[in-house]
Amino acid sequence: MFVAVSFVFSLLSLGRCADPGWVSLNVTVAQNMTDADYLWSQVRVLIGTPPQPVDVTLNMGGALFAAWSSDCLYCPGSTPFDMSASSTLEPNNAPWSGNSVDGSGMWYHDSVSFGGVLTNSDIDFVSFQSMSTNFYSRLLNGVLGLSVDPPQAKYPSVLTKMWEAGTLMNPVIGMRLDPLKPRLTIGALDPEDYVGEINWVETGSHHSIFPSFKIDGLKGYNGSFIPFGVDNLVTSISSYLANIYVPEGNPYALDEGYTGPVHSINLYPDGGFAFECNSTAQGLSMSHVFLTVTINGVDYPMDSAYNMIRPPSLVSAAGFCNVALRNTTAADDVDVMLGQPFLRSVYLAYRFPTDNCPGYYGFAFPSGANRTQDQINQKPTSTPSLSSQCLVLSQPTSTPSISSSSSDSNKNNKGTGAFEVYGGDDEQVPLLDAENLKRAVWNKTLT
Ligand SMILES: *[C@@H]1O[C@H](CO)[C@@H](O)[C@H](O)[C@H]1NC(C)=O
Ligand SMILES: *[C@@H]1O[C@H](CO)[C@@H](O)[C@H](O)[C@H]1NC(C)=O
Ligand SMILES: *[C@@H]1O[C@H](CO)[C@@H](O)[C@H](O)[C@H]1NC(C)=O
Ligand SMILES: *[C@@H]1O[C@H](CO)[C@@H](O)[C@H](O)[C@H]1NC(C)=O
Ligand SMILES: *[C@@H]1O[C@H](CO)[C@@H](O)[C@H](O)[C@H]1NC(C)=O
Ligand SMILES: *[C@@H]1O[C@H](CO)[C@@H](O)[C@H](O)[C@H]1NC(C)=O
Ligand SMILES: *[C@@H]1O[C@H](CO)[C@@H](O)[C@H](O)[C@H]1NC(C)=O
Repeated sequence: MFVAVSFVFSLLSLGRCADPGWVSLNVTVAQNMTDADYLWSQVRVLIGTPPQPVDVTLNMGGALFAAWSSDCLYCPGSTPFDMSASSTLEPNNAPWSGNSVDGSGMWYHDSVSFGGVLTNSDIDFVSFQSMSTNFYSRLLNGVLGLSVDPPQAKYPSVLTKMWEAGTLMNPVIGMRLDPLKPRLTIGALDPEDYVGEINWVETGSHHSIFPSFKIDGLKGYNGSFIPFGVDNLVTSISSYLANIYVPEGNPYALDEGYTGPVHSINLYPDGGFAFECNSTAQGLSMSHVFLTVTINGVDYPMDSAYNMIRPPSLVSAAGFCNVALRNTTAADDVDVMLGQPFLRSVYLAYRFPTDNCPGYYGFAFPSGANRTQDQINQKPTSTPSLSSQCLVLSQPTSTPSISSSSSDSNKNNKGTGAFEVYGGDDEQVPLLDAENLKRAVWNKTLT
């Protein structure tokens, strides 16, 4: 209620800072993971004046915020950003430092909003002008980098900027990318999204990898740690990876102590492997993949079907289903990389670094997932130092309602010239400047 009122209020008092708030956004994820091209997680951001919905791809391992320009050559996606339609867009007159034949763009700044609830009129982002046809092919419409750059970064990340402007209730995000209820919260953790104690672990940087952290290890079927010959595994999380990567010479696949009873296994020359699976009258019968990631004394089991093991595909051996466990290489610079199969099995919080605090990842179990009470009741081994300064978060009291332009409901607008806009408590409120909104014209030649 409090936050919803402040949203209406901020519409009425342009230029004044809204009270600190938080937002819960729907995330689009693939229902089932397969070996084919993946739908990476997308979240809707509103860019410009009037706000344009752009469904950007989430990136846990970077800070870059970018939107593909609507006149970009070979940029994939269906909701690019039309620069000419924003009355508040201004150029920074700086090229993106990563410009190459694979993708290039320029820095701009404009108003950016999450759900019409968290808004900042001056967010820096890269507008992409071109992309190579074989690069970033799965990144639709743009990227939202959710890690925070080191302080020397030229332009602050969205999260840092919103925190420093007093827009966020807490310097934290929460996410779950499981198909049951995929969500991203910014500014607070939603108690409805997770169960169990949040297990906080400090993050740092390891070589060029940021944020990184340490895990206790990975366990297979019999509950023993898989020996990788490395202690204190340096780990990173990536929303762009389709697998879980562990050190080379992985002893998992050929040992029933770790795999559990599996009738037959197919080893690929690149270090990957597959378990048998059978098509039956009842449907596909896949082996169960037993894999647990242990962090600060707490076991997080990975979901198996359509996650750690995927249905037969063009890249699996006949009669086998690929397992999402691969090996890292020296170039990866970390021992373990946790990709989508991990993010689809846990609740993840990120308390990003601010002036006096380092960054922390927090882990819990997604509410509603198939977890036992014993798993949920596990307690972390240790509590990070600085917890009392850095990890005491304000709890949200109610869920802010997000504006109509950020939900799919605008697709149902019948073009009567009237928009329905709701504040708190389902109360209809006037949409200011509605007469200045550009009417959308369906251009048949583009489909
Ligand atoms: C998706 O996964 C569920 C189990 O998680 C399975 O029951 C269902 O058949 C799968 N759907 C497709 C289209 O493969
Ligand atoms: C689990 O299996 C591994 C590999 O076979 C073995 O070394 C370990 O002792 C087993 N642990 C238990 C608790 O049986
Ligand atoms: C590790 O992975 C790389 C890349 O997939 C592969 O070339 C290499 O053979 C693997 N090494 C082992 C020991 O499995
Ligand atoms: C597949 O069929 C074989 C032969 O009937 C059986 O031994 C095996 O357990 C089955 N595997 C799965 C995963 O259903
Ligand atoms: C729930 O988890 C158990 C053990 O982890 C597994 O055997 C079972 O198939 C899972 N149930 C569903 C519906 O995924
Ligand atoms: C978010 O998803 C839920 C269902 O999980 C749906 O009820 C709700 O309307 C969605 N919200 C928006 C803004 O799309
Ligand atoms: C529709 O798109 C085409 C191709 O980009 C463009 O030439 C044309 O002017 C557009 N029509 C309208 C009505 O915007």
